[in-house]
Amino acid sequence: MAIENKTVEVLADQAALVQRSQEIILSRLHTAIASRDRFTIALSGGSTPKPLYESLSSQSLPWSKIHIFWGDERYVPGTHQDSNQLMARQAWLDQIEIPEMNIHPINTTSGDPQQDAKQHEAELRQFFQTESGFPTFDLILLGMGDDGHTASLFPYTEALSVSDRLITVGNKDDQPRLTFTIPLINQARCVLFVVAGDNKSSALKQVFAAQADEMQYPSRLIQPQGELLWLLDQAAAAEL
Ligand code: 6PG
Repeated sequence: MAIENKTVEVLADQAALVQRSQEIILSRLHTAIASRDRFTIALSGGSTPKPLYESLSSQSLPWSKIHIFWGDERYVPGTHQDSNQLMARQAWLDQIEIPEMNIHPINTTSGDPQQDAKQHEAELRQFFQTESGFPTFDLILLGMGDDGHTASLFPYTEALSVSDRLITVGNKDDQPRLTFTIPLINQARCVLFVVAGDNKSSALKQVFAAQADEMQYPSRLIQPQGELLWLLDQAAAAEL
């Protein structure tokens, strides 16, 4: 099914992409805090968001009302160079006065990814005080791989079909990853994709196409009940 109700903006370069992403995040942050006295955001990993996190670290914000989660995590310790948690801490969270209890990393140290997925699900249910259904994040930040994956929802993997859990085990080249499920992402008030680079252009054309295989291009499955915003640089948008 084609992605309906998405907003797509193409920005001139990385600086403009960072600026616009930050603008959207800050706007949704202030709205959430004004209405619910807190802001819950799930971060994406990879390389694209790093300059955005660096920019956010210089903002003066009510950090005690902001709660940081991750939409996916590699199955490595939080100190490993591949850790999404480590990247966000180094680029942003270590530079601000945010209470450690407001940072909610996915534990990846038990040696049993399924067990860690269950544990994080329990942590989310405890935080959002919801024993069933799917909690609503204020904003979920996502990237997209050059194969059309997002979070750790990779093409033709079992994770794409999980609809009864919040967290599941994704799989990239036989390496486990922990990831939000499709229904959890789609419950968000706002899903913000930030995609840059010419290596994303052909997958993006398929993700936005009227017809394409959702199993092959998992980002097509992200159709939230709330806002769906795609921020692209010109290189990523070249084939649209
Ligand atoms: C991860 C991310 C992943 C990422 C895309 C794009 O754990 O790597 O969550 O979904 O967003 O792979 O990565 P780049 O921004 O590095 O291109």
